[in-house]
Amino acid sequence: MVSFSVNTILLSASVAALVTVSLADPSSTGGIGCSDLASRHGVNITYTDIANCFDSIPFNNNAARATLKTVTTFFNDYYISRDSVLTPFLTEPLESDPVDIVAKLKKIGRTRYTSDRKFHTDVFKAIGSMHDGHSLYAPYCYVAYLYAQPLSLYAPVIDGKQVLKVYKDDFKRGYEDCTVVKIDGKNAMAQIKKYANTLYTSKDPNGRLNEALSSMVYSQAAETFVVFPGQFAIRNFLPDNPSVHYELKCATSTKMIVVEDKWVITPQYPWLFNDTASYINNVCLAQPAPLQTPTASAASAASAASVHKHNPVSLSSERHHSISAFNKRALFDRQQDQAAVAPPSPSPADASAPPSPSPPDYPEATKIGAGNCTVFYQLKDRPTIGVMVLFVTMIDFAEIDFMYQSLETLYQKGVTDIVIDVVGSDGGYANVASDVAQLFFPNKGPLDQILGVNFRSTPALQQLSAKVYNSTDGGYSQKGNMLSILGGGFFDSSRYLNLATNQTYTDNSLFTDTVSQYRNGRQAVYTKPTSYKPATHPVHPNLTKYPWTNNPDRLRILTDGRCLSACAQVVYLLANQYNVKSYGVGGTYGEPLSKYQYAAGAATNNVIFNSYFALANMPSPIGDLPYQGFVSLALGEIIAPGGTVPLEFDSDKYPTDFRLEFDPVNARSREALWTQVAEDAWN
Ligand SMILES: *[C@@H]1O[C@H](CO)[C@@H](O)[C@H](O)[C@H]1NC(C)=O
Ligand SMILES: *[C@@H]1O[C@H](CO)[C@@H](O)[C@H](O)[C@H]1NC(C)=O
Ligand SMILES: *[C@@H]1O[C@H](CO)[C@@H](O)[C@H](O)[C@H]1NC(C)=O
Ligand SMILES: *[C@@H]1O[C@H](CO)[C@@H](O)[C@H](O)[C@H]1NC(C)=O
Ligand SMILES: *[C@@H]1O[C@H](CO)[C@@H](O)[C@H](O)[C@H]1NC(C)=O
Ligand SMILES: *[C@@H]1O[C@H](CO)[C@@H](O)[C@H](O)[C@H]1NC(C)=O
Repeated sequence: MVSFSVNTILLSASVAALVTVSLADPSSTGGIGCSDLASRHGVNITYTDIANCFDSIPFNNNAARATLKTVTTFFNDYYISRDSVLTPFLTEPLESDPVDIVAKLKKIGRTRYTSDRKFHTDVFKAIGSMHDGHSLYAPYCYVAYLYAQPLSLYAPVIDGKQVLKVYKDDFKRGYEDCTVVKIDGKNAMAQIKKYANTLYTSKDPNGRLNEALSSMVYSQAAETFVVFPGQFAIRNFLPDNPSVHYELKCATSTKMIVVEDKWVITPQYPWLFNDTASYINNVCLAQPAPLQTPTASAASAASAASVHKHNPVSLSSERHHSISAFNKRALFDRQQDQAAVAPPSPSPADASAPPSPSPPDYPEATKIGAGNCTVFYQLKDRPTIGVMVLFVTMIDFAEIDFMYQSLETLYQKGVTDIVIDVVGSDGGYANVASDVAQLFFPNKGPLDQILGVNFRSTPALQQLSAKVYNSTDGGYSQKGNMLSILGGGFFDSSRYLNLATNQTYTDNSLFTDTVSQYRNGRQAVYTKPTSYKPATHPVHPNLTKYPWTNNPDRLRILTDGRCLSACAQVVYLLANQYNVKSYGVGGTYGEPLSKYQYAAGAATNNVIFNSYFALANMPSPIGDLPYQGFVSLALGEIIAPGGTVPLEFDSDKYPTDFRLEFDPVNARSREALWTQVAEDAWN
């Protein structure tokens, strides 16, 4: 399970008292409200159905005030980057304006709203403007549906020129590789970049561009690489218009082909409602539920360390009959189903549809083995080259054992060099990042392997940390995930090293013996630098015999800048500390690209955060959100050895060593991309 599941959130939410909110009588707004939407039963939903429903939800002033109170307190008191995001300008490859998040939220509080949706969208946008992939506000009320375009796009470089093209046409009208000249009447590439820059996912504009466009990602369910359509083509919030208007230039015709595609809308969950009142009650408002203690499996899934992949785009699965924070691969599986049932819209190009591009002439690589986070391949036409795809970093000790086994298999099959592919990779457990790096560089003592981390502290955290010191973690630390929601999670000091003694903390002084620091003119209280307790999983002795072990020349990293959080820490260690060269693919031609994105040290959301307090029988210092959903942020930051600013803002540590461009073949064949890296690295 990637990240927390929303089921778990609901479960955890149940341990805290919920704000009671009185609503204006929605029936008084008149009109059809949410009843047309309800009558669709999840099929053939139109833009108008949704717009009518959302417009009928009256602005809820009490809920808005309670929302702002929780969100503002959370960001003001606990967000590790509160003052770092005020940094005036970041240098390449990062680019992100300074944001005073507290001031922005206060300004929203002073604004007179008439639209409830506008209020919640403004909160989402304020948080998103920091381009911190850990920081997100997602109220189910307004992200309950998924909006998909049948065309997904990419930006290959052809003959030295970057063009926007159709990557895939779900309606099978044959538009693949037609050039997208205009979108909604304007220059298509400019439109995509403008949209990409609204994405919260990365501080690197080219990371954002890669996130907006299509890419291939490994799907554990499909057991192969599948297409993620990109966030331009898949939205969580209601798009501005009911359709997207494209002007395409296809190889088969000199005429411009005009395509107007409606958003294909599907529910993220089988919501139960009949009308506006029941939509508000069942979808929007937080549901009070009986007190429950998280189960071990829920605790595992909800590991606070795992709250890295809470991208609302992935908040989806009808199939699983639960709202799970799914990764992008699961989303793709849905897309395929959807495309299969979606009616093709009439197309002027039907008659002259060009043939699909010919299949790439790269032989499929041989799959050596697939785990829950990694998959290993050997190139068929270059059998000395192995590939390790790290598609998610929820790595526990069982997965590490699987990785040992797979590396041994690669070795026995004659592999001498390895491409580590982290394209589009999701986050995971921060505390095992060093174990992954140790698979390739098992030459460091435990205290040299780990990255430092620090947190903010408040009187509430000091009390909590006193109560949860040396709490049980349900045995998860024995499996690699020491940050289980059970016990105090991030706030149990026994899970950290006191760097003054290099021993684990013997009391909660991590949170009480604090330091005060000014950043960008603002003062805040931080813990002293610490680090996670090193993992105890033994390093396999066989590692030492592999030709690539401790040998950066025999390793290469392949990234598109979207390797996030725990993945970022793995790549930071491999690239910045152990000198493995990296190749960055995609983004804007000629511009630098990041190796990774938002390498924060710890992330959580309001629900998990509050559950720590609830389990310790303490009131939450931030309160609850009146609407279902969550607000998340980074609690901890990493400062790279020798660095003076958090890694999150340390631009110099980001750029890849080499750049690769997408073309119509390598964008569709991972083997082609691996072969390119191998040829460049080991000709
Ligand atoms: C959805 O729309 C398609 C095409 O218009 C139609 O064939 C189908 O019956 C509709 N489904 C429902 C459940 O209304
Ligand atoms: C929908 O309406 C029916 C009949 O009025 C009612 O029995 C049912 O509880 C309603 N469902 C919801 C989810 O409000
Ligand atoms: C993958 O997850 C499944 C289900 O939790 C587990 O049974 C299996 O051992 C895991 N495999 C690895 C390699 O970690
Ligand atoms: C370690 O290497 C030996 C031979 O050198 C092999 O027999 C054994 O299976 C390997 N173990 C693992 C876990 O790879
Ligand atoms: C922590 O708890 C374990 C058992 O749960 C106990 O053996 C150990 O002594 C405790 N350590 C401290 C420092 O309290
Ligand atoms: C702790 O370990 C680090 C890394 O090995 C070392 O540099 C440092 O001197 C140690 N500090 C103490 C107090 O032993």
